[in-house]
Amino acid sequence: MVATLCCAGLASVAGCNSRPTEPSPPETSRGLPAGFTEAEWGERLFASEGCGRCHSVDGRRGIGAPLDGLYGKTRHFLRGGSTVADSRYVRESVLHPNLHIVENYKAVMPSYEGRLTEAELDALVAYIRSLSPTAAD
Ligand code: HEC
Repeated sequence: MVATLCCAGLASVAGCNSRPTEPSPPETSRGLPAGFTEAEWGERLFASEGCGRCHSVDGRRGIGAPLDGLYGKTRHFLRGGSTVADSRYVRESVLHPNLHIVENYKAVMPSYEGRLTEAELDALVAYIRSLSPTAAD
């Protein structure tokens, strides 16, 4: 009886851990590259991480909303509620895209949690911030 319980426990733990392991990013992408500002590095990451497949930065709607001019805009969510976009919101959107689904868009954005280093995340936020030059943070 004890043995059965023990095995069941182990099986469920194994089940929880059965997420496929993702390759870690190459060592070169871990720190601010020489000669780049944080926003410039963010722009490069935006391309290499595939953000640009779904988000334009020129006002055009794609699978996701355009990210230029995002800061300071009120974002309304599918399940109700709203927020004014700022750095905290961008960060949260990248790590937990399905926490708040933006109204009129689908929940198709993958989470980047565990795929980006803190420095990479900061750089992406700095880049997206730079696309809204007139907004307060
Ligand atoms: C497969 C398409 C896809 C990819 C790839 C993707 N996104 Fe998204 N993203 C979306 C969609 C669709 C939404 C709106 C639905 C939602 O809130 O999850 C969204 C929402 C967002 C928002 C909130 C924007 C708003 O309109 O309020 C931000 C910020 C964002 N994404 C940034 C990023 C960044 C940065 C990357 C790359 C690291 C990225 N996304 C990659 C599809 C994508």
